[in-house]
Amino acid sequence: MKKTATLIVDGKSYELPVMVGTDGNRAIDISRLRKETGLITYDPGFGNTGSCTSSISYMDGEKGILRYRGIPIERLAEHSSFIETAFLLITGELPTKEELSDFSAMLNDHSLVHEDMRHFFERYPRGAHPMGILSSMVNALRAFYPEIPERSEEAEINKAFARLLSKLRTMAAMSYRISKGMPVVYPSYFLSYCANFLNMMFDSAVRPYVIDEDMVSALNVFWILHADHEQNCSTSAVRLVGSARVNLYAAISTGISALWGPLHGGANQAVVEMLQEIYDRGGDPAPFVARAKDKNDPFRLMGFGHSIYKNYDPRGRIMKKMCYRILEKRDFNDPLLDIAMKLEETALRDSYFIDNKLYPNIDFYSGMFLRAIGIPLDMFTVMFAIGRLPGWISQWKESREDPRGKLCRPRQVYSGPGKRDYIPIPERKPKEVNGRRLYPQSVEKTFETKYRSSASYL
Ligand code: CMC
Repeated sequence: MKKTATLIVDGKSYELPVMVGTDGNRAIDISRLRKETGLITYDPGFGNTGSCTSSISYMDGEKGILRYRGIPIERLAEHSSFIETAFLLITGELPTKEELSDFSAMLNDHSLVHEDMRHFFERYPRGAHPMGILSSMVNALRAFYPEIPERSEEAEINKAFARLLSKLRTMAAMSYRISKGMPVVYPSYFLSYCANFLNMMFDSAVRPYVIDEDMVSALNVFWILHADHEQNCSTSAVRLVGSARVNLYAAISTGISALWGPLHGGANQAVVEMLQEIYDRGGDPAPFVARAKDKNDPFRLMGFGHSIYKNYDPRGRIMKKMCYRILEKRDFNDPLLDIAMKLEETALRDSYFIDNKLYPNIDFYSGMFLRAIGIPLDMFTVMFAIGRLPGWISQWKESREDPRGKLCRPRQVYSGPGKRDYIPIPERKPKEVNGRRLYPQSVEKTFETKYRSSASYL
C-alpha cells in the first residue's frame, strides 16, 4: 500500500507521498508542496531535508553505521585499498583484478601535472595555506585539460575522473614542496598511489625516503575512512554548484573550499591546535571543557560532536586504533596524545556532552595520526581532501545522471523590511553599531577628499 502523510493547512488536507529508502529510512516527499499549497518548508542547515536520493553511502547516526555502496566501512578498512574503494564509490561495484589493474594504470598515466602549472605554485606567497592553493589550482585545471561534454562516452568520463584523482595527489605534494622551497618530486611508475604520495612529500636527493609498508597501509586506511560521507557540507556544495552544470573542476574546487572550514574538514588541524594550546597552558583540559559548555562563548570542543552521529563515529574508532599502532611502531611518545586522552575522558564524563550525545568524531584522532606519519599541520585538511575526492566525484556523477536532477535553488522566508521609500542622500543618518559609527569619520573624509571631484565614482 502506498504510504502518505497528511498535512492540514487552514482546514484543508493534503496527502504527501512517503518515500522509503532501502534501509527503511522514511522521508515525506514535499517536491510538489509549493505548487499545491503555496507553502514552503523552513529547515535552517537542512538537517531535516533530503536533497536527493543517493545509492553511494549509507549512514545511521544513532547506531554509528557507515557503509559505502552497502559495504561496512570496517570491512573496507580491513581489506580494501584506497584505489579499490575509489573504484567502488565511482562505479558502484568492487573491481575485478583486471579492472583494478587497468584503473591503476590509468591513474599512473595521468599522474603528472602540466609543467606550466608549476609557475602558478611558485607565485603564491610563502606561508599561504595549502587548502587555498589547492582549491584555486583545481579550478585552474580546466584551463589545461578539457571539460567533460554533456554526452560523453563512459571511457571519456572515467579518464577525466582518473586525471583528477591522480593529479590532486600530485598537486598536494607539489604545493607542499614548493611552499618549503624544496625541489618537486615526480610520481613514480613503480610505486602505489599511497606510497607515491609519501615519496613525493618526503623524498630527498640527499636523504632518500624509504617506503615503509605499515605507513603505506595506514595511509590507505586513512583515505578509505574519508572517502565519502553522504550529503555532508562539502559534498552538498559540490552537488549544488554542479547542478548549475559547471565543469567538474569548478565543482570539486568548491568542495575543497567548503571542506577547509574548521567545523568540517578543517577540524583535524583545529583539534591539534587546541590540544597544543591545552598543553601550553599546563595540560589541564577542564577549562576548555567549561568554555565549550558556556553558551556565551563561541568556543567549541574541536573533534567532538557530529550533525548525524549521536554515537561514536565509526571512523573515529578505527582512526584511534591506527593512531596508537603507528605511534608505537615509530616509538614516538606524543605528549598531545596524552592530552587528547585526558580531554576525551573529561568530556565523556560530563553531563553536557552525555546529554547532547557529543562523542569524538573522526577528526579528534586523525590529526594525531597525521602528526605521527610526519604530515605538517597545515597539510592536514589537504589530506582529508585527497581522501574525499572519490566521494565528491561519485556524488557529482550521480547528480549529473539523475533524470530528476534540477538546478538547486532553495527558497527563503524573507525577514527584511517591508516595502519602503528611497531616501535622498542628504536626509540619511550615519550607520551605527552599539552606539559607534560603522564607518568612522576619518575614513569617510579621506574617501570624500580623494573622490570629491570624480563624478564617475558615484
Ligand atoms: N562543543 C560544544 N558544544 C557542542 C559541540 C562541541 N564540539 N558540538 C555540538 N555542540 C552543541 C551544539 O551547540 C548544540 O547545542 P544547542 O542545542 O544548545 O544549540 C548541541 O551540542 C547539539 O549539537 P548537534 O545538533 O548535535 O550538532 P550541530 O549540528 O549543531 O553541530 C558540528 C555539528 C560538527 C558542527 C559540531 O558538533 C561542532 O562544531 N563540532 C566541532 C567541530 C568538529 O569537530 N567538526 C568535525 C565534524 S566531523 C568531520 C566532518 O565530517 O566534517
